[in-house]
Amino acid sequence: MKRILITGALGQIGSELDSFLRKRYGNENVISSDIKPVPEGMLNQVGLFEHIDCLDAREIYSVIEKYKIDTVFHLAAVLSASGEKNPQLAWKVNINGLHNVLEIAREYKCAVFTPSSIAAFGSSTPKDNTPQETIQRPNTIYGLTKVTGELLCDYYYTKYGVDTRGVRFPGIISYATLPGGGTTDYAVEIFYEALKNKKYTCFLDKDTYLDMMYMPDALKAAVNLMEADPSRLKHRNAYNVTAESFNPEQLADEIKKYIPDFEMNYDVDPIRQAIADSWPNRLDDSTAKEDWGWSPDYDLKAMTKDMIEKLKIKLFTSEQRRAYSV
Ligand code: SER
Repeated sequence: MKRILITGALGQIGSELDSFLRKRYGNENVISSDIKPVPEGMLNQVGLFEHIDCLDAREIYSVIEKYKIDTVFHLAAVLSASGEKNPQLAWKVNINGLHNVLEIAREYKCAVFTPSSIAAFGSSTPKDNTPQETIQRPNTIYGLTKVTGELLCDYYYTKYGVDTRGVRFPGIISYATLPGGGTTDYAVEIFYEALKNKKYTCFLDKDTYLDMMYMPDALKAAVNLMEADPSRLKHRNAYNVTAESFNPEQLADEIKKYIPDFEMNYDVDPIRQAIADSWPNRLDDSTAKEDWGWSPDYDLKAMTKDMIEKLKIKLFTSEQRRAYSV
């Protein structure tokens, strides 16, 4: 990885991957792109930035040529809950966008990281210790695009030798940029509401177990996989990875250790509940551990502590923090 392009760089993962990669590879070697312009408040946080609509292959070509890109982190995608609202758009962005990137990677010999998801599994998948290779019959359009994306990456690797790599990300928890349109988003919203209002109404039921991961681990997973020795990789897309598995009630209990009067309520959204119910409780990520040394640093306890510390700084002035009873 010498010259890197990130698509969807203004999203939850992209916005933090950008600075992570710039620290590791140098400012001049990381080019961020998104269909949206950089918001005023973020102008001093991004480095080199280009407009790319992944549905327009010419825009990707011109940036790859201009900067002599050799690695693409392709993150532009529509997530699960948004996908159910507009399945046609989700298919177009997630499949045609990826196909454009793979075609260009084939021509310019770029490596490609593209995330799959726990959404690539469905109700007929074993829910506990979900194996690396198992039944994948999701029933969300997002899940369909993720399975198709996994197969497409395998195909480009086998047929054309494109260096495709990927992980099945669980819900990602972070304090810098909000996720948008996902089913696991409750695990981020809850921290904002707990700190600001000391109460949260959760759209998933209290006993809904899902895999989750704190952002530093997600960045580490993506970069370690891209830096891994290719001869050790048995899977080209995508590796199961997880860091923690918990339900909303357990997360609320952990938050209460810092905000004792935090109140959790439930108002279940049937659409997102059905999506969550079709996903695994906990993935088996032993293959990622064996093949490229995957090992997360944050469990529920460590993640909650760090999220609360970091969000307090983000949301409150130092005076407010002093007065705040957390
Ligand atoms: N976080 C994603 C979602 O909820 C799962 O990959 O859609």
